[in-house]
Amino acid sequence: MSTADEQKRASAAKALDYVEDGMIVGVGTGSTVKYFIDGLASMKDRIESAVSSSEQSTAQLKSLGIRVIDLNAAGPLSLYVDGADECDPHNRLIKGGGAALTREKIIAEASAKFVCIIDSAKEVDVLGRFPLPVEVVPMARSLVGRKLVALGGQPVWRENVTTDNGNWILDVHNMRIVDPLGLEREINQIPGVVSVGLFARRPADVVISAGNVRANR
Ligand code: 5RP
Repeated sequence: MSTADEQKRASAAKALDYVEDGMIVGVGTGSTVKYFIDGLASMKDRIESAVSSSEQSTAQLKSLGIRVIDLNAAGPLSLYVDGADECDPHNRLIKGGGAALTREKIIAEASAKFVCIIDSAKEVDVLGRFPLPVEVVPMARSLVGRKLVALGGQPVWRENVTTDNGNWILDVHNMRIVDPLGLEREINQIPGVVSVGLFARRPADVVISAGNVRANR
């Protein structure tokens, strides 16, 4: 059986099939996306530019000679490629392990097609084994933490991490997420929450796991 790293490379390589000439490509964040960016560099003369979800991805894109533009200048995107921390059978995701969830969610929303690239260990029946990241305005950390406890979770402050937007992350442990859409809506309504790493309202359109395009369920 291939290693997680080999599976990430295979998924990233397969995602290049979705890149078309002249595209502005939405680019996510993480170790799987790093392989995708490496591949994108080999076809950089065919694409228009990229919109990036993090300072980390922006640095890699630019270092490889790929032009990065602002989402406001790009308008609606055709394609967004990003990884995930967990993926359920309906392509709903937990994201934010790399603390880039808010920009990732914005770009996913702006994109007609979201191709999610993962290794097979990320596939779960029910979301929640991976602690759910919630980005919060710093002054609301304790307030949001108490609300998340009331929802049945155990939030842990990801200390020493400040997001690209200047905010903090709470990782919510021990939530078995049987209603991802409802929970996403509920957490979004807590004052001080910037975004939650549940991608249920806008799930992935295509999931590539270990290099194989997963059949829609
Ligand atoms: C970053 C993310 C990443 O997509 C997620 O953490 C997966 O990362 P990796 O490809 O390194 O496993 O959501 O905020």
